[in-house]
Amino acid sequence: MPGVTLESLNIRSVRELELNNRKVLLRCDFNTPLDDDGEVADDSRIAAVLPTIAFIQEQGGRVICCSHLGRPKGTRAPQFSLEPVARRLAELTGQDVLLPDDCIGDAAEHLIATQRSNQIVLLENLRFKAGEKANSEDLARKLSDLCDVYVNDAFGALHREHASVSALPKMMMDRAAGLLIERELAFLGELASGAPSPYIAIVGGAKITGKIEVLETLLDAVQGLIIGGAMANTFLAAQGHDMGGSLVEKDRIPLARHLLKRFADKGVPVWLPVDMICVTDISSDADRQVRPVGDLRPNQKAVDIGPETIELFNSILDGSAEDGPGSPRTVFWNGPMGVFEIDAFAKGTLSVARALARSSATSIIGGGDSGAAAKKAGVSSMITHVSTGGGASLEFLGGSVLPGLTALRGGRR
Ligand code: 3PG
Repeated sequence: MPGVTLESLNIRSVRELELNNRKVLLRCDFNTPLDDDGEVADDSRIAAVLPTIAFIQEQGGRVICCSHLGRPKGTRAPQFSLEPVARRLAELTGQDVLLPDDCIGDAAEHLIATQRSNQIVLLENLRFKAGEKANSEDLARKLSDLCDVYVNDAFGALHREHASVSALPKMMMDRAAGLLIERELAFLGELASGAPSPYIAIVGGAKITGKIEVLETLLDAVQGLIIGGAMANTFLAAQGHDMGGSLVEKDRIPLARHLLKRFADKGVPVWLPVDMICVTDISSDADRQVRPVGDLRPNQKAVDIGPETIELFNSILDGSAEDGPGSPRTVFWNGPMGVFEIDAFAKGTLSVARALARSSATSIIGGGDSGAAAKKAGVSSMITHVSTGGGASLEFLGGSVLPGLTALRGGRR
């Protein structure tokens, strides 16, 4: 089957737009992890759009970046300000990055009106506006008033039907995908139309809402699913295990139960942790205990997968597991196996990164955290493709039509 490409989707590339002297709104995914001092901890997602910024400027366009950061729920929350991103973007480009305190309104308009060609305007966090998540036409209209051209390079946010991703591009005659989306599709587009089997997906992380819903799309694509990290807690709870004080999304338990049944009915194995590293408080010097699943004390929280689970997951990934589908030819991984930012709880996550690096399968890592884990394990260069998209690549590889791509179709020819 031919791969999914910009051309097959009828989406133009930024290379096809007239950019000279035009104000270009560039939707980026600057949703980057921040360290304890509030500075950018991993700048991969910022570095990934630099070629598009450079291209627009070389063509004589002025760059107005916009992005979300975190999930601030429609109100201004200082810890989710894009200030640290602006600082890092300025360092990486060597240019002034101007950050108005709101993504629309007088301050943004004024900065854009006086912006010089070697300056970048970065609009403040789009999710400070409730209208972003609500896909508000009104917010989209106000953003469209700021620019002449719309370019989306936020591969990681293409699965979100939000105002800056969906409503806004539909209003713009001149709309296109940026060079990062072009690169991501060049690689992932082939796999989206049928990955070589056996295909194993590994899903983890604490961002359960919004991700668990899409696991069903993997049902027809994969020959096995490994679930770890906080995501696994909800599935283990759905199987009736007491997860002690671990993070469990109670309202998603029925969905987890439904998914386990769907995979079982189809004969696609799902592997969950059999033991976990537990602590009573999440700090680097906490006392760690290995507990078998189902044997957590009420105050114990799972922070990593345990040694038996590491062995189990390794055996699936190297093809030696008895109940596995054999040596995988495609492996996709999204989401850490625990609180890997703390070294003491990183072993499970790093072991998955290393297993992917050892594998002869086409290996794809999706999402900031898993990408950062591969870096931490020193194996990024041994992974076939490290995507900037987490949930987005998961949905895309599951065959979903991403709203951000749909909204880019057509436009001025
Ligand atoms: C991501 O980190 O996967 C994207 O930036 C989307 O973020 P979200 O899951 O908060 O919508």
